[in-house]
Amino acid sequence: MPEAPHHATAAAGASSGAVTFSSTAEAPVVVLDYGAQYAQLIARRIRECHVYSEILPHDIPIEELKARRPAGIVLSGGPKSVHSPGAPSAEPELFALGVPVLGICYGQQLMARSLGGEVAATGIAEFGKTDLNVEAPSSTLFSELPPQQTVWMSHNDAVVTPPDGFRVTASTSASPVAAFEDPERRLFGVQFHPEVAHTPKGTELLKNFLYDGCDLLPTWTMTSIIESALESIRAFVGDERIVCGLSGGVDSSVAAALVHRAVGDQLTCVFVDHGLLRQGEAEQVEDTFRRHLKMDLIHVKAADRFLEKLSGVTDPELKRKIIGETFIRLFEEVARDELNDARFLVQGTLYPDVIESGTKDAAKIKSHHNVGGLPEDMRFTLVEPLRNLFKDEVRRAGEELGLPEEIVWRQPFPGPGLAVRIIGDITAERLDMLRAADAIVLEEMKRADLLREIWQSFAVLPAVRSVGVMGDERTYGHPIVLRAVTSDDAMTADWARLPYDLLERISNRVVNEVPGVNRVVYDITGKPPGTIEWE
Ligand code: XMP
Repeated sequence: MPEAPHHATAAAGASSGAVTFSSTAEAPVVVLDYGAQYAQLIARRIRECHVYSEILPHDIPIEELKARRPAGIVLSGGPKSVHSPGAPSAEPELFALGVPVLGICYGQQLMARSLGGEVAATGIAEFGKTDLNVEAPSSTLFSELPPQQTVWMSHNDAVVTPPDGFRVTASTSASPVAAFEDPERRLFGVQFHPEVAHTPKGTELLKNFLYDGCDLLPTWTMTSIIESALESIRAFVGDERIVCGLSGGVDSSVAAALVHRAVGDQLTCVFVDHGLLRQGEAEQVEDTFRRHLKMDLIHVKAADRFLEKLSGVTDPELKRKIIGETFIRLFEEVARDELNDARFLVQGTLYPDVIESGTKDAAKIKSHHNVGGLPEDMRFTLVEPLRNLFKDEVRRAGEELGLPEEIVWRQPFPGPGLAVRIIGDITAERLDMLRAADAIVLEEMKRADLLREIWQSFAVLPAVRSVGVMGDERTYGHPIVLRAVTSDDAMTADWARLPYDLLERISNRVVNEVPGVNRVVYDITGKPPGTIEWE
């Protein structure tokens, strides 16, 4: 289903009383999130070192933390001063679990304070690139790293006296204790941020913590992730039947491919084709899943039904509502008629959604994804094999599972499809016009090798007409709006600075090749104040 955060039409499916499934049995290196900008980045960097990592809230009860059997703990940075009232703290027990701990920035200060060291406002804040002197080259963290290096700092307070048992391992001109460690208790702290790219040796330092400090091996590879997911899926579903709602998007596609690899024909995929897809997308889903991967695929061709329901509807929210409801009714019909013995439903939930929704509250995760909607009497148990993975990891899994590049690297696409890119009436003719223009946009973006770099790029059909002249003839045609944005998460976005010659090529081709279109305009609005979609 669409990769975007808010779905009006969700991937087919619902679940009540769902048992969620997790694909990773490995003991994680836990990142305790103290409100850092960089908590996710820390976890991702650790994973890039082939060690499994999870993010948990800093106030997780210690018993729950212990139950996760962490192989290591990282305390993230955070926006507060350890001295400010109500600033998050760390229970001293955390440092006595016998689990190696690395404190980063605020995390280092917390560690110092909890264990009897001193943290003070030194009067000299450090922000940005800073020269670091390694005081103890044989220390765990700095082993085989250069004695002088650049690190990235962002702090006001600093540790001035390390706790008993700790030795100073690095300093800067403003931070006498820029790093410290107690190798006996396997406790480590750094004032700087090893997780950001501005600390060039940061990853090496993290590896030292993971491989030497925690005695871990780099075994969390895509092959091992997939292997362990396959085993877990088999154990979880036994020989029961499973359903997966396919949209052609990355997440549902990879989830389906993974489950199919695990249990083969026990899986049936349902692809509800609402006729609002981009050019060639339905064929691609057929091609990939039925012909190439040999999956049992039910292709519900329902364009007419959706068009009929949408006839005369111009309100964007109403369009979404109608599409969502029609989608669910169709899925329900298929499930009743053909899948009534299926017990499990595959969902392509990703790790950022899990973090965002609060790691403990499964109900919230569902509403976030808007997967609710099927009637109460259709009970499915959710299988969420991608719950632990970030988007780029899902893409790599998809590649490993043999999915084509067009699917694995697809841009996000909204559930209601082209309906939210046609302003006003949705008719077969207007859909054809938009689809043809959109196909040219995608083709040219691909030719310019910009498809992966640009978050989304597409055509919009507004409900206005404009005068033009073509071959001495006056035309009164339709403009097409070109929209291309850069973004990290769709929460904010900027309009993409596409090269002029690319804009020119798209404009020429759209006007020449799509009958009825006589003008192309480029949307140069960011988000905010605009949204990515036009409706
Ligand atoms: P906006 O337009 O709000 O979009 O900036 C943010 C992201 O969400 C996608 N989007 C949707 N996805 N159902 C979806 O599944 C929807 O109704 C919907 N509306 C917008 C949009 O493509 C962008 O990635």
